[in-house]
Amino acid sequence: MTTAVILISGRGSNMRALVESKPGIDFTGVVSNRPDAAGLAWAAQQGLATRALDHKAFASRESFDAALAAQIDSFRPDYIFLAGFMRILTEGFIRRFPRRLVNIHPSLLPCFTGLHTHRRAIEAGVKLHGATVHFVTPELDHGPILAQAAVPVLADDTEDSLAARVLAQEHRLYPQAARWIAEGRVRFISDDVVRVEGSGVEGDWILSPRDSP
Ligand code: GRF
Repeated sequence: MTTAVILISGRGSNMRALVESKPGIDFTGVVSNRPDAAGLAWAAQQGLATRALDHKAFASRESFDAALAAQIDSFRPDYIFLAGFMRILTEGFIRRFPRRLVNIHPSLLPCFTGLHTHRRAIEAGVKLHGATVHFVTPELDHGPILAQAAVPVLADDTEDSLAARVLAQEHRLYPQAARWIAEGRVRFISDDVVRVEGSGVEGDWILSPRDSP
């Protein structure tokens, strides 16, 4: 069976969606860069192996990433799923795991890379917003897109209401993308583009109903 490690930094709701959906992946470990991440406790309760690697204890980004890579390697995973992992990774780390690092980002990439995506979407006046699952490459939030989910931006949206609507879709999208990976349906067309084989138009994007939470 395909195996994977999940990286988190906080509450870990995307990790939970991945694990609970049983996408045909054996999640062998969860690593957090914050020892107090709420998601770690949940993962431990599920019987998953957990590791906390406090980034503040490292003198440099490189030394933290080397320790993180060693932790990941100890699980020998096929894939590494970043689920709310809020650390920028060094190029050296990313190049160590080519086509094996998967991330979920709360925007329709390539729009709104980086932080505060929901606030920036409202400020920009976009009418559609959403989430993207992509492979991680050295350019932040720019790797090949595996799947996207779009939601409407409503006139009375606040940052919180929009974040909640997107998050509900993240919890559908990430397990779906993980399942496609497990099924071996993800094909790299180039270093920048992936296709999901056998998915129709309804397959690799999701448009949520207007009134979804
Ligand atoms: C999610 O919106 C994720 O896309 C973003 O940070 C949030 C993390 O939430 N990178 P959780 O820890 O998965 O609950």
